[in-house]
Amino acid sequence: MFQIQIEGTTQHFSCAPDDTVLRAALRAGIGFPYECNVGSCGNCKFELIEGELQNTWNEAPGLSEKDRTKNRWLGCQSQPCGNARIKLREMAHYQPVHPPIKTPARFISKREITHDLHEFSFECESPLTFSSGQYALIHFAGVAGPRAYSMSQEGGSGTRIDFQVRLIPGGSGTNKLFTMPVGESVQIDGPFGMAYLREDAPRDILLVGGGSGLAPMISLARGALALKTPPFKNIHFIYGARESRDICGLDMLNELPLWKTLGHYTSVVSNAPADEVLPEGTQRGFVHEVVQTLHGQALSNMEIYFAGPALMAQAMIKLLVDQKVPMSQVHFDQFY
Ligand SMILES: Cc1cc2nc3c(=O)[nH]c(=O)nc-3n(C[C@H](O)[C@H](O)[C@H](O)COP(=O)(O)OP(=O)(O)OC[C@H]3O[C@@H](n4cnc5c(N)ncnc54)[C@H](O)[C@@H]3O)c2cc1C
Ligand code: FES
Repeated sequence: MFQIQIEGTTQHFSCAPDDTVLRAALRAGIGFPYECNVGSCGNCKFELIEGELQNTWNEAPGLSEKDRTKNRWLGCQSQPCGNARIKLREMAHYQPVHPPIKTPARFISKREITHDLHEFSFECESPLTFSSGQYALIHFAGVAGPRAYSMSQEGGSGTRIDFQVRLIPGGSGTNKLFTMPVGESVQIDGPFGMAYLREDAPRDILLVGGGSGLAPMISLARGALALKTPPFKNIHFIYGARESRDICGLDMLNELPLWKTLGHYTSVVSNAPADEVLPEGTQRGFVHEVVQTLHGQALSNMEIYFAGPALMAQAMIKLLVDQKVPMSQVHFDQFY
């Protein structure tokens, strides 16, 4: 174990040589800013003041040449070679609600949700505690770097973990997962993420998932509708797909006892042929456009969660800024 000292504070934390600076800090309860955990967003940058680190992924898009010349590193991609001193803007917002742990896990089953979105279940050796809406990292043998996947169950503590993953053509992690034999082992590290259920927020809930962003929205719906006294009157679920065959999620929501009284589901397709008769309740367009049409000015009185491809997330952020929604009511994960 090496010691990492945070410059200008009395804080320090231990980091194993095979851990990353970011994840070791979060395990110690430190509010280290981050988002994706996979080298893409750049939110976990810090400056190395003293000591030696190594990069797990030199080409990670989250770090520019200018960053390198300024001795900046990505917390999620750097491992210590000895004790180190780093400069970091700690933020209470990032203090983990549940410190992440690493555990071996065995692949136990899968089921088809759509033609290219499947649910994968794992049995972990140690129980994982997480809040609805959070994600974990899966380390696959033979795949460079971990992959982030959101849990689809209601938050809680247990050894069984379900993920809902969309197959990416040519993607190394998803191709490994979709062809994985039952019984194979992976390592799971989690939980991570800030887009978890705010249980006390006294506002109607809007959940928006695009494509592979189904799992965290299902988890949030499950968590919200399991609350003893839900502090909201309505929960709106909007799922954005490309084509009719990609539409999903309503069957899982219909299983929740309170969904029938509080829930409203809308599906949106962006790429359906103009002459196709769409399933009942399905709209055409991009998901953020339908969010605007259905909720417009009411958005500023909602607790809003969304997850999906970065383009969708950017369009949602722009819409919510335009609608003057307080950012304290907005929680999201962009899938890189
Ligand atoms: C917070 C978060 C939550 C997510 N949740 C889900 C979900 O619930 N369901 C879902 O289907 N998808 C989810 N994703 C997307 C998922 O993590 C993968 O990006 C996606 O499945 C494609 O993976 P792939 O390996 O098939 O594709 P690839 O193109 O092989 O890999 C893309 C991913 O791998 C990382 N990567 C690539 N090369 C390296 C390397 N050499 N070293 C380290 N990292 C590398 C990239 O940063 C990128 O994240 C989530 C992403 C994030 C950031
Ligand atoms: S959290 Fe490290 S680059 Fe996104």
